[in-house]
Amino acid sequence: MFREYDFDTALKVIEKNTHLRGGLVETLRNLVDTFGYINEELYPTLANTFNQSEAGVLGVVSFYHDFKTKPRAKNVIKVCMAEGCYARKSKNMIKVLCDTLETDIGEQREDGEFEIEEVFCLGNCAVGPNIVVNDKLYAEVTRDNVQAIINKNCKGNRV
Ligand code: FES
Repeated sequence: MFREYDFDTALKVIEKNTHLRGGLVETLRNLVDTFGYINEELYPTLANTFNQSEAGVLGVVSFYHDFKTKPRAKNVIKVCMAEGCYARKSKNMIKVLCDTLETDIGEQREDGEFEIEEVFCLGNCAVGPNIVVNDKLYAEVTRDNVQAIINKNCKGNRV
């Protein structure tokens, strides 16, 4: 579970990596680990700390798929859509998940409970289709077992 964002905690996270060469990426990763996302108000501080322009910081943030700039839903479900999983019908998983959780791919449900995200290869191709539910990987997911996986691993209201 992520902490609620606050600037003072973010500064402590940033200060941890000032001694590292190329510490910007590590700091961004630590901010995501702490808050689930990178608050844009930190760009000037990050730029000053790591001797970059704000555009340079934005460039790094936008390069990496996992560096989100908006708060995440309480439950994040990632569905692999790369070739191996796609061939094993991962698209069906997205349909079931979107219908069940009443949200669209790439969208956060209005109440902030669920978010479904497409990802491209989780490194588990031989036993796809694969999904990740709140950082826990599940293989060989089917239309029949996906609901049980969601019920077991997600907090909050389904609908
Ligand atoms: S193709 Fe889905 S894990 Fe690699």
